[in-house]
Amino acid sequence: MWKGKNVTVFVTGGIAAFKVATLVRLFVKAGANVEVAMTKSACEFITPLTFQVLTKNKVHTDTFDEDEASKVQHIHLADKTDVAVVVPATANTIAKMANGIADNFVTSTLLAITAPIFVASAMNEHMWENPATIRNVAQLKADGKVIIEPATGFLAEGYNGKGRLPEPEEIFEQVTFFESRRAYGSPLKGKSVLIAAGGTKERIDPVRYISNDSSGKMGYALAKAASVLGAEVQLVSTAKQLKVPFGVNVTYVESAREMEEVVTAQFPTTDVAVMVAAVSDYYVANRSDQKIKKQHNKSGLKLELAENPDILKGLGHSKKEGQVVIGFAAETEKVLEYAAAKLEKKKADAIIANDVSSSNIGFNADNHQVTILTKEGKQIPLPECSKDALALEIWKTLVAENVIR
Ligand code: CTP
Repeated sequence: MWKGKNVTVFVTGGIAAFKVATLVRLFVKAGANVEVAMTKSACEFITPLTFQVLTKNKVHTDTFDEDEASKVQHIHLADKTDVAVVVPATANTIAKMANGIADNFVTSTLLAITAPIFVASAMNEHMWENPATIRNVAQLKADGKVIIEPATGFLAEGYNGKGRLPEPEEIFEQVTFFESRRAYGSPLKGKSVLIAAGGTKERIDPVRYISNDSSGKMGYALAKAASVLGAEVQLVSTAKQLKVPFGVNVTYVESAREMEEVVTAQFPTTDVAVMVAAVSDYYVANRSDQKIKKQHNKSGLKLELAENPDILKGLGHSKKEGQVVIGFAAETEKVLEYAAAKLEKKKADAIIANDVSSSNIGFNADNHQVTILTKEGKQIPLPECSKDALALEIWKTLVAENVIR
């Protein structure tokens, strides 16, 4: 996404300027060519040298520092910018941008940029809530700038409030999200996508459970990709440890029966439901409400397992109103044969078959390789790649094959 892109970072004078060093590193690490421009006030908080070392590029601070006769620096920089990020954007710079004022290198360059501009602001809570700032921010939005809202938390003033600069990773994720959306178009725009992810946990007692090896990562990658491609995404997840992708809503569940309840309730308002979850086939029917004590008898402890509902089958066989139902089949042998049988038995529109027998493309591997089976009998193998790349490929293929219309 970022390889070869020219990202220009505009630093203005706020205490959060120190966080921009990490943001710049994230863009550089992702392969972007980063140039930094700073206001005089920004230089009071962090030195241009820091950014010069991180970017290997000269840092711009002065409009009249024209050391190359063939170029007007701020216009040259504006023209080559693919993406601009103003961070931290002070109330002062926001006000200037909203009113087209160009009185330093930063504001002059910003006025000349035609590429997307992201504004990540940070300021005192009262300054953020001042009617003048509210007006200026609304103007920037109306002008097509993307505002990355300040976070709520402990401010430099010593109290909690809205005004903190979001963490660099969060800013990077949001900029990447909007840029990816622009790059891919929005083939899932207007679609509501429901994704169930993670391995379910079936309680034995309050502190013990039966589960499986599923990490939930493939479901989260599909949720992220669907959101990037324009869908409204609802995740129903057991994987509380994973970061929820930007723009995705999540409902946490634990057991298969809880998952079924949430998925079934949301299904009527869904366009596409994807069961990526590794649902336990059984639950513990004699679950104890108290922690089970060690049994000192020869017969040991007996757990009674009762069958869980088959969520995918339930959706596939339900009375649908145009919903598309997609399942996964993780198999260790006869992959396509078993997946085709599941497609038919569960009345899904498509099954994504995953060979988990090999350690380099299996359950917890970095790379994955899947084949999409459609109910029309097509088998479409996708190239082996990372989960994120594969997730995008899966959605694009489902659209291209008219599984999702
Ligand atoms: N699935 C489900 N509810 C279950 C079991 C599975 O919704 N109780 C869904 C999974 O989320 C997946 C698909 O069905 O999308 C296939 O799951 P899998 O575990 O491979 O198949 P099973 O039907 O459980 O068959 P088996 O374990 O015998 O392979």
